[in-house]
Amino acid sequence: MATLVTLLIVILHTVFFLFLLRKYRYRRMRLPPGSLGLPFIGETLQLISAYKTDNPEPFIDQRVSRYGPIFTTHVFGEATVFSTDPETNRFILLNEGKLFESSYPRSIRNLLGKHSLLFMKGALHKRMYSLTMSFTNWSIIKDHLLVDIDRLIRLNLDSWTDRVLLMEEAKKITYELTVKQLMSFDPGEWTESLRKEYVLVVEGFFSLPFPLLSTTYRRAIKTRTKVLEALTLIVKQRRKESEAGEKKNDMLEALLASDDDDFSDEQIADILLALLVAGYETTSTIMTLAVKFLTETPLALAQLKEEHEQIRGRKSDAEAGLDWSDYKSMAFTQCVVNETLRMANIIGGIFRRAVTDINVKGYTIPKGCKVFASFRAVHLNPDHFKDARTFNPWRWQNNSEATIPGNVYTPFGGGPRLCPGYEVARVVLSVFLHHMVTGFSWIPAEEDRLVFFPTTRTQKRYPIIVKRRDQAKPCKAEQCVHNI
Ligand code: HEM
Ligand SMILES: *[C@@H]1O[C@H](CO)[C@@H](O)[C@H](O)[C@H]1NC(C)=O
Ligand SMILES: *[C@@H]1O[C@H](CO)[C@@H](O)[C@H](O)[C@H]1NC(C)=O
Ligand SMILES: *[C@@H]1O[C@H](CO)[C@@H](O)[C@H](O)[C@H]1NC(C)=O
Repeated sequence: MATLVTLLIVILHTVFFLFLLRKYRYRRMRLPPGSLGLPFIGETLQLISAYKTDNPEPFIDQRVSRYGPIFTTHVFGEATVFSTDPETNRFILLNEGKLFESSYPRSIRNLLGKHSLLFMKGALHKRMYSLTMSFTNWSIIKDHLLVDIDRLIRLNLDSWTDRVLLMEEAKKITYELTVKQLMSFDPGEWTESLRKEYVLVVEGFFSLPFPLLSTTYRRAIKTRTKVLEALTLIVKQRRKESEAGEKKNDMLEALLASDDDDFSDEQIADILLALLVAGYETTSTIMTLAVKFLTETPLALAQLKEEHEQIRGRKSDAEAGLDWSDYKSMAFTQCVVNETLRMANIIGGIFRRAVTDINVKGYTIPKGCKVFASFRAVHLNPDHFKDARTFNPWRWQNNSEATIPGNVYTPFGGGPRLCPGYEVARVVLSVFLHHMVTGFSWIPAEEDRLVFFPTTRTQKRYPIIVKRRDQAKPCKAEQCVHNI
């Protein structure tokens, strides 16, 4: 009986609550239309269950058809305005730090650390952002990074035999590249043992962030401390070397030298870890998915092979590394890169919070309200991209603003928080594809499915059977993939 009464009270409260929200708050505030679902949990359950299907955007699709491109929902404990409108998304990106500010869940903050750029604000963000950019911009890639990227990717691929878990390999490559870029370490025993710990930290991002419920999350937080200690030791050692005049050209050196901020060794270790995490899952996923999409689109793969064989053909020495002019000559590759980022943008969108009441498209986003600008919903919308859910790299040929306007395609975000790793990620993927298609033929070892939630990933680790090209039969165009 007591439970029945409790139940009744809960139901009555719910009805009353919904009534209030609909009739009163919506009208008064002119919030974008939508439903806030149940009290407290809102529509979180619908969000999670929707993404267990194959359709990449079921939750958003449903609401867009009911309410239009901007709607209100209630997920992860808060009322949230979702935007799937390119113009509004651009408005949100460009007004970062003015009308909106970056606002990610606490669980992400606990794992990334408070010294991640993502959580910095104002003048400190500006300074650290440009410091990061000075180690990721194209001129530094051209003069320094490209050599390492080429060498480390080749080193990894050289060890491949027979069956390869592509996602694992891509992660190893991404990790090694970032460690090199941040603190000049070549892969070795120390980096490999740190990687084992580091992987446990990253797993925390894809677990339910409740310490009481999730051992993965608890373990991630614990391991994070260990990784941080290991990094702090490195920082201390490098500080000594630096003071003795022994300087290296990497991100760590720049952090040690940034005297107007005067970071402690622990803070620097925190910053390094955050950067190590930032490009890891993202870059390795697009590497894997590019190969997957190409495997399923033999014509594109054949055209890509042709482009890269031409580059190899121009080299006098078969072992010669790629240089910047080679990278710049990869026209079709850039179409493949863009199309992969469009289809498999693993950052589905960005979270912000309204700093003040904001009027957009006739609605009001109230001060303090959470906002989610969905890039994926735009990238996969047939109004913006014809046959949006088909991998078609040729759509990027002739590359005119008229066919694909800038604000419609934002895999790396934009405005003051535009991903500082955007060029590095593109170069890594291009060089990786170069060595994949010139070095190997392959077939997928098993069926694999895409999972779009919590991020776009292949469900397995995308195992493939590889064969070195010099052992493979020479093949022509469309038959290439099937020919190993
Ligand atoms: C395919 C690969 C990548 C994708 C799709 C991607 C995407 C993004 C996006 C959309 C943002 C904006 C977040 C926001 O506005 O709230 C971002 C921020 C960031 N990315 Fe990337 N990223 C990639 C690779 C990398 C790499 C390789 C690095 C390492 C250098 C990196 C470092 C960062 C950092 C530090 C931020 C924070 C910037 C800030 O808040 O000012 N990313 N990334
Ligand atoms: C890239 O960074 C370097 C410093 O590492 C800086 O001198 C240069 O001006 C930057 N170039 C661009 C195009 O931002
Ligand atoms: C690009 O231009 C060429 C000729 O200039 C044309 O044949 C081709 O269909 C165009 N591709 C796209 C995707 O518009
Ligand atoms: C790929 O997308 C970027 C925008 O992120 C654009 O500047 C570039 O021109 C595109 N490349 C091609 C080949 O369309």
